[in-house]
Parts: sequence; C-alpha cells; structure tokens
Amino acid sequence: MENKSQNLAVVGVQWGDEGKGKIVDVLAEHFDIVARYQGGANAGHTVYADGKKFILQLIPTGILRPNKTAVIGPGVVVNPESLLEEIEAIENNGIRVGQRLVVSDRAHLIMPYHRSHEAAAEEARGVGRIGTTAKGIGPTYEDKAGRRGLRTCDLRHPELFVKKCSQVLAEKDRIGEALFGGERFRGDQWVTQYYETARRVVPYLADVSVFLHDAMDRGQRVLFEGAQGTLLDVDHGTYPYVTSSSATAGGAAPGTGVGPTRIGAVIGVSKAYATRVGSGPFPTEERGAVGEKLRERGAEYGSVTGRPRRCGWFDVPAARYAARVNDLAALAITKLDILDSLEEIPVGLEYEYEGQRAKDFPAEAEILEKARVHYRMLPGWRQPTVGLREFAQLPTRAQDYLRFIADQVEVEIAMVSTGPERDQVIWLEDSGLVREMALARG
Ligand code: GDP
Ligand code: IMO
Ligand code: MG
Repeated sequence: MENKSQNLAVVGVQWGDEGKGKIVDVLAEHFDIVARYQGGANAGHTVYADGKKFILQLIPTGILRPNKTAVIGPGVVVNPESLLEEIEAIENNGIRVGQRLVVSDRAHLIMPYHRSHEAAAEEARGVGRIGTTAKGIGPTYEDKAGRRGLRTCDLRHPELFVKKCSQVLAEKDRIGEALFGGERFRGDQWVTQYYETARRVVPYLADVSVFLHDAMDRGQRVLFEGAQGTLLDVDHGTYPYVTSSSATAGGAAPGTGVGPTRIGAVIGVSKAYATRVGSGPFPTEERGAVGEKLRERGAEYGSVTGRPRRCGWFDVPAARYAARVNDLAALAITKLDILDSLEEIPVGLEYEYEGQRAKDFPAEAEILEKARVHYRMLPGWRQPTVGLREFAQLPTRAQDYLRFIADQVEVEIAMVSTGPERDQVIWLEDSGLVREMALARG
C-alpha cells in the first residue's frame, strides 16, 4: 500500500491562470501519473518544455514528460473534437501520446448544442453576462446534473448512442426554442457526423477509478491537477461568476474515483499579484495605468480566448479563504519576477463593507463588488529576480514580501516561480511539504 503523503493535489488559489501548468510540470517529475478531475477545454495551461511552448487545455500537463501517464477523470467534460486536436498538436511537437493518455469512460460529452445554448444564454444575460470561455462547459454540467447527459462510455455502443442522442435532442430542441429561439439540432446527419469523430476517443477509454487504484496499490504516485481556481469553484467561488465544476481540492475525489483520504496533501498556486478574466467581483483590481503595466509585463492575456486579463494585487482574505476550503499544506507563488520593477507593492489585507471590517470572504458577489480594500504597502526590490533558483539569492525585500504573504495567509511557501521555464523555480528546502514528500530537485 502506498504512503498516503505520496499523492498531491495542485489547485488554483485565485481566479485561474495562476501558473498551475508550470507548477504541475515541475512537480510531475516526482510523480508517475497526472490526473485532471474537473473542467474541460476552458482551461489553458501554458508550459514551456524543451524549448517549445505548449498550451494544454484538456490533457493533463504530465503528458509532456516521458514515461508519465496523463489521466482525464470522470469529473472532466470532454469535447472529443478538441481532445483529438490536442493529441494531434502534442504529437506534431514530437511527443508520443499513445497509451500514456487514459480517459474516463464516465466523463460527460460536450455536444454542439451545449455551445450554442451557452452563446444564446450569455447574449440573453446582456450586461450580467459571465464572460465564459464559450466552450460549452456550463450547459454540459447542467445536463450532467439534470441527468440528460451523454457520456464517453456511450460512444462504445453506436446504436445506443444514436438512440440516446435523439431522445435528448428532442428535449434540447424544445428547451432551446422556448428559451432562446435557438437552432434546432434534430436530424441523423448531425449525430452521425459527431459520432464519426467522437468514436476515435474510444481506444483511450478506461475505468479511471480502477486504473488509479491499481497504480496506487503498486506504489505509483499520483498528482491531481486542478483547473480554474478556488474563486471560480461552483460552490466556493464568487457565484454566479464562476465556472460550473468543483475546482477546489475536494473535487479531486469524485472527479477521479479516488477516496478523499488517499489524497495526501494540497498545494495552492497563486500569483504574487492577482488576475481575473471574465466578469465578476475582483476587490483588489487595479484599473489604472499600474494595472496596465502589470498586464504588459506579465503578458496577461488569456491563453484560450486571448482576452486581456484584469490585473490587481495579492488578496489576503481571498487567499486565507482558499487555504481553508482546500486545506492548503503549502503555497507555490508564481510570477514574482513580474513585480521586479515596482517601487512599492500593495497587498490587500482586509475588506470593509458598510463600515464593518472583515477578513472573511463574503458569500455575496454584490458585497465583494462594493467592498473597500485596506492595503499594506510593501517596498519593491527593484532588481531582477528572473530565473533565480535559490531563496537566498532573492533581494531581501523580495524575501520579505514572500514571508509577509506566508505569515498573513498562515500557509508556508514551498515553491517560488521566477519565470515561465521549467528550471526557473526556487524550492524552499525547509518547507515541511517539500521535505515530507521528498520533492525538490533530484
Ligand atoms: P494556468 O492556467 O494556471 O496553468 O496558468 P496559465 O498558463 O494560463 O497562465 C500563466 C502564464 O504565466 C503562462 O503564460 C506561463 O508561461 C506564465 N508563467 C508561469 N509562471 C511564471 C513565472 O514565474 N514568471 C513568468 N514571467 N511567467 C510565468
Ligand atoms: P485555467 O485552468 C481563468 C472563467 C471564464 C469565466 C468563468 C466561466 O487556465 O486556470 P466557463 O467557460 O468555465 O463557463 O467560464 O470562468 N474561466 C477561467 N479563467 N482560467 C481558467 O482556466 C478559466 N476557466 C474558466 O473566463 O469568467
Ligand atoms: Mg490558464
């Protein structure tokens, strides 16, 4: 039986794009399997490996390392066309996928009507739109909960697939027409076309729960790769400006078919500042020229949609909240180098709403929108940190900045990323997690 502390979950602390891909890629060296448990191709994890840039959307980052297996769990929603395109793109870059990719036979399928219903729903919301990635994620999870979803296992049985499809389509057409005056999807031709592409996913299908349990029983280490972030989680995020899945660490258990006590520890990835793409509250947002500077320096443009990301400052109440709902054992702080040129760096310490100060994260998006943030101004270090690999090499003020964050959040820092490349990382060797899990450079 494996040592439970061998398996680790990596989650986003903020609103996604924290650099989870980069951190998972670095950590993956120490694991045998990397498993995604939620979300879909709304995710965009940018990783530089062997001098090439990869944007992984559906396939776990582990695929980029030889001899690692990448697992897509039942909690993920799969668009077969996107998955096949991603496999092709990876293989065209000289990385063999083959049997190193395992896809759950219980994952829900994103269908064309999910994307068109999402587009219609967003348009109907007008100014209140969520600003989704338009990948059909929300409507697919709606149908999963509504018990009218189609799953990857249905692709194993062509006749059954067509039958189930036509039953669902009749209902979808009625709903679509009534709500949005939308397109109609009935018709065998469309279903046949979808099936012809989707069936190519069948060779990758397996019972992921069995696969992971067998691997763990043999002593293999599993890294659970979260997509999105805590504040986009459907239960714990800034609802309704969230995604439709459980992006927090708890989602890793149902999202893979592994019991929660088998996941030993959770590491939370956070930028040294903050960003958000799409609508919704962002208390520490910096709207002026300074925000613009962060965006330019940090190249803060969505990797999936190309949208400019909103930029702001590290938010202590939000990070403390993420620490609690995920039970974070450690933090990985990314993009420290982006702050290098700043004279002073604000850190959001407390919220104030209607005269009351609070360190907790409120449930209502409306309160977060209006909350005033009290900041602590920390002095900048104004020296390059790009590519540094030792904590002691960091300017004293950068060290102080990191210590301040860790003290405020009350979670130790295990890793600091100082650039997008694999080797641009500092391991904090006295971190309990790094020692306990025997991580760090081999
Ligand atoms: P994810 O969705 O959480 O994996 O994050 P994204 O890949 O969407 O966005 C993070 C971006 O920051 C990517 O373009 C990474 O290459 C880049 N990145 C990650 N860590 C660092 C870092 O420490 N410094 C710099 N300059 N870029 C980084
Ligand atoms: P990674 O894994 C940042 C945001 C969208 C929108 C909201 C709902 O790269 O961190 P959806 O299409 O999921 O229904 O959109 O969630 N969003 C992300 N923002 N990074 C992501 O993924 C995101 N995935 C979804 O912008 O605000
Ligand atoms: Mg991303």
